Amino acid sequence: MKRIQIINGPNLNLLGKREPSVYGNQTFEAYFEILKQLFPTFDLHYFQSNTEGEIIDKLHQTGFEFDGIVLNAGAYTHTSVAIADAIRSITTPVIEVHISNVFKRESFRHHSYLSEVCKGCIIGFGMDSYRLAIESFTV
Ligand code: DQA
Repeated sequence: MKRIQIINGPNLNLLGKREPSVYGNQTFEAYFEILKQLFPTFDLHYFQSNTEGEIIDKLHQTGFEFDGIVLNAGAYTHTSVAIADAIRSITTPVIEVHISNVFKRESFRHHSYLSEVCKGCIIGFGMDSYRLAIESFTV
């Protein structure tokens, strides 16, 4: 069974309450239950942290053992050389995910330190971005 780690970064614990016009009304916990039903053949794990170092620790813990990592690093996407270096350091492929289309938003969201070290990026499909990213590990 393929093991997939989903990692959500800062403020994504507030999905469902946070800026619903941008991020929707669903909590990630509710959506994670749907993901588990959609991918019964995958062993899906979910981790969220508001702290950069904890995200890096989770990448280190899973990045040599799991088959895939789906990472929404939130605002750290646009600031974190340290998370980019962590992704460079591990062997598990990482898919960068964003719920919103960051290119339709403020220009500071247009640059990602992570994209060039990720296998691919899924951006702007709402919560469905996570499903599409996991789907990429079915091939
Ligand atoms: C986000 C986009 C980021 O710019 C923002 O800081 C987030 C969420 C997204 O999923 O659309 O926290 O990663």
